[in-house]
Amino acid sequence: MNETFTILGFAGSLRKNSFNKALLRNAVELAPAGVKVEVFDLDEIPPFNQDFENRPPDRVKEFKAKIRAADAILIVTPEYNYSISGVLKNAIDWASRPYGDNAFDDKPVAIMGASTGMLGAARAQYHLRQCFVFLNMHALNKPEVMVTFAPHKFDENGRLTDEDTREHVAALLQGLVDWAKRLEKK
Ligand code: FNR
Repeated sequence: MNETFTILGFAGSLRKNSFNKALLRNAVELAPAGVKVEVFDLDEIPPFNQDFENRPPDRVKEFKAKIRAADAILIVTPEYNYSISGVLKNAIDWASRPYGDNAFDDKPVAIMGASTGMLGAARAQYHLRQCFVFLNMHALNKPEVMVTFAPHKFDENGRLTDEDTREHVAALLQGLVDWAKRLEKK
């Protein structure tokens, strides 16, 4: 494990004023002492084409290298049609290929999600957990961070203003660090 514990975070929305991107930015400042949350932007990841999986675009190579260098992964997912967004699934598919070169293999991971509705991307979060089985990622079970009615939880600059949610995000980050350290000992 590195001296500074590094969590690589990415959000599955490209929208400028995305609540999920804002949630991830807030995680950067809510990280415990000695922990760095590094944000990776999925904007430049092209649509996956298996014809190119053995010679992926540079941005995908960079993504895979960052995943491998990180001590743990934090995925922030929106909910689209009761599942994760295509943008997020696309990035995961690239990083998992070609077969035998899955960058996510054996990585500890935690999930957060925000939606405008009353379930906080819960259904998407459980779909994402299913992907972790094939990816061989080790998911933190609790706490769960499901940010409901997102427009009421952030200010116009994307700052998470809801104190309870801020505490949940901080607890999730600490939980992820503890979980990764437990796995490292085995
Ligand atoms: C949505 N939204 C949505 N919300 C939800 O709670 N369950 C859902 O199944 C869906 N489905 C859905 C599909 C599509 C195509 C869009 C564009 C939106 C609403 C969604 O939660 C809301 O737009 C969020 O603000 C999206 O996340 P970002 O972009 O703010 O991070």
